[in-house]
Amino acid sequence: MPSKSIRSSRITGTGHYVPDRVLSNFDLEKMVETSDEWITTRTGIKERRMAAKDEQTSDMATKAALKALEQAGIKPIDVDLILVATATPDMLFPATACLVQKKIGASKAACLDIAAACAGFLFGIEIAQQFITSHTHDVVLVIGAEKLTSITNWTDRNTCVLFGDGAGAAVLQHRGSTHGVVSTHIGSDGEFADILFMPGGGSRCPITAENAHMNLATIHMTGKEVYKQAVIAMLSAAQKALDQAGLTIDDIACVIPHQANLRIIEGIADRLKIPIEKFYVNLDRYGNTSAAAVAIALDEANRSGRIKQGDFILMVVFGGGLTWASTVIEW
Ligand code: ACO
Repeated sequence: MPSKSIRSSRITGTGHYVPDRVLSNFDLEKMVETSDEWITTRTGIKERRMAAKDEQTSDMATKAALKALEQAGIKPIDVDLILVATATPDMLFPATACLVQKKIGASKAACLDIAAACAGFLFGIEIAQQFITSHTHDVVLVIGAEKLTSITNWTDRNTCVLFGDGAGAAVLQHRGSTHGVVSTHIGSDGEFADILFMPGGGSRCPITAENAHMNLATIHMTGKEVYKQAVIAMLSAAQKALDQAGLTIDDIACVIPHQANLRIIEGIADRLKIPIEKFYVNLDRYGNTSAAAVAIALDEANRSGRIKQGDFILMVVFGGGLTWASTVIEW
């Protein structure tokens, strides 16, 4: 298949931040009727991080962003565009990206948030590379950041064991070398909007004194259906990014998947016929941090030497919406 690769932007720096407080499966055993054994075998998650009450999504995003900028050797004043992917903005407006702009002093940047749930960081990579390719913006800071513990129903064992807090960031610039974003793919299906959603807290259902007890501003999920759709969407998205890049899965040195459930990742490895060892997995330590998940994993893989210059890496994600996205990068 001919390559329709993009190759105009590259990631020049990555960073991540997770809060210090660890919430283990054993801690959760004291909160709801669950067990370390159930959570581990059904999800692979052992612990997750929990932000402090006064630690907001923008604070975590800022810490991850500063690390990415430092690695890229870019001063905040030279950032042209800040994209924050999040399902847990500090406030519905202004955009969390504007709050990050103020905190890092990136006064030249335009700022906006991306609402694509867990797929948001790769939607950000797609938007960044489009701006860079069209030469309107040179330095783009893409951040995935979440305080999911602020929208978790701590009495619902079906969901409260899955999620955690954290942030990851990447700096994208015009490539200036052969390495960079090779292909991208994004997609959505609103037909499945009701299998993973937060019903309250928006304009449709504001939280009032009358409904405050109903946990409407928390994550509602039909787990089995999400699981099924996740596998379908991620397999198809992975193949699309590979085809567009003119590569096969054998060319990929490392797959960085959305960190929702180890069984989903194993199912994808099985169907793609690649060893699970090729996947970067950190969900055992952080749980599902939604838009932050692949961003955190990318930075860990980068800084630990798990991905090396010249490697082809495949990132593939899905989230509420439904949304999905994939990208192949030559590191
Ligand atoms: N501890 C103990 N038992 C539990 C727990 C728990 N934490 N949660 C559910 N159970 C029980 C259920 O009540 C059910 O009991 P029942 O048979 O008596 O009714 C039993 O365990 C089996 O429940 P299932 O829902 O069938 O379990 P399943 O094997 O499907 O695993 C899970 C549930 C882990 C949620 C799985 O469906 C999953 O991973 N789904 C995808 C979730 C996901 O990826 N979400 C991404 C969100 S991304 C974003 O955009 C935010």
